[in-house]
Amino acid sequence: MVTNVLVTGATGLIGRRLVNKLTAKGLIVHVLTTSKSKFIEQKNVVNFLWDPSTGYIDPNCITDVRSIIHLAGATIAKRWTKKYKQEIIDSRVKTANMLYDLVAASEHKPVHFISASAIGIYPSDKNRLYTEDFSERDGSFLSEVTVLWEAAADRFADFGMRVCKLRTGLVLATEGGVFPQIYNPIKKGFGTWFGDGSNWQSWIHIDDMVEIYEDAEATFLEGVFNAVAPSPTTNRILTEKIAHYADRVLWLPAVPRFVMELILGEMHTLLFDSQRVSPAKLMHKRFYFKYESLDEALKNLLQYKHPSRDIIKR
Ligand SMILES: NC(=O)c1ccc[n+]([C@@H]2O[C@H](COP(=O)([O-])OP(=O)(O)OC[C@H]3O[C@@H](n4cnc5c(N)ncnc54)[C@H](OP(=O)(O)O)[C@@H]3O)[C@@H](O)[C@H]2O)c1
Repeated sequence: MVTNVLVTGATGLIGRRLVNKLTAKGLIVHVLTTSKSKFIEQKNVVNFLWDPSTGYIDPNCITDVRSIIHLAGATIAKRWTKKYKQEIIDSRVKTANMLYDLVAASEHKPVHFISASAIGIYPSDKNRLYTEDFSERDGSFLSEVTVLWEAAADRFADFGMRVCKLRTGLVLATEGGVFPQIYNPIKKGFGTWFGDGSNWQSWIHIDDMVEIYEDAEATFLEGVFNAVAPSPTTNRILTEKIAHYADRVLWLPAVPRFVMELILGEMHTLLFDSQRVSPAKLMHKRFYFKYESLDEALKNLLQYKHPSRDIIKR
């Protein structure tokens, strides 16, 4: 029985947790990384190298692999110069194409390709609730990247493989991603929201995100799915709730849009874009979220202890 899974971007925020989860189930995980120094030395992991800048990929990474999980992607939280924008695209699309060429040349074909995708594919809008069948695009950089990224994933159907794309919202985790970026200033007393703070932010707790990948792999899930919790929030509410559960006061005025545009350039849209996204399709596949409510997710991340419980303990 083939029990190997190939994971790209396995050394990142989602990947590290996913590797632990898959190996704990007894699967052999092939980690494909761009850096030898990031090799994951643990039981049931086999490391392989690739170099998207030269097109090198270790062909053995695909041996006896039943699923490929493509998480690789350069961070979008870095200034979007023309050169860096190309890196954001290449690290997702060129890498998918390298995997495609490898599968094409290999006698053994995996059965499943799962790709990370992003809710940035949907136009920024404060009124709509997005489901996967919404097909309008707004031509923003993130939307263009995501369209190319998903198209690169779709090509794996050429081999009769099942293709799954997970349009991911803001992943909340203590060890990386957006949560520490909001929480750290709040902790130091300098937290606030942006603009009027009314833009929608569709979030997901890291535990649920990893569970979705694991479930998708185990069931050979096919199609495009929004990977967000069922209770999207706004930038202001997210900031206020983090402050509440961290027991900190927000006193600074909101940061106006033009200030962030001056500081960050085009990338400031990350802070102001609004996407209210529905996970109904995933829930119809009987996916149960551990963290449906933002309060429960934040209490977990901030290890919040209810004051009344503290009183009882004392
Ligand atoms: N976290 C979120 O909130 C979120 C939201 C929406 C979508 N996503 C998507 O989900 C995927 C995983 O997210 P994550 O948060 O785990 O990402 P992450 O922590 O930034 O890790 C991504 C991984 O991609 C690889 N990588 C980075 N630059 C690369 C490049 N230039 N060429 C090839 N590989 C490169 C790195 O692996 P090596 O150094 O080992 O090669 C890195 O560990 C990403 O594609 C991301 O865009 C994440």
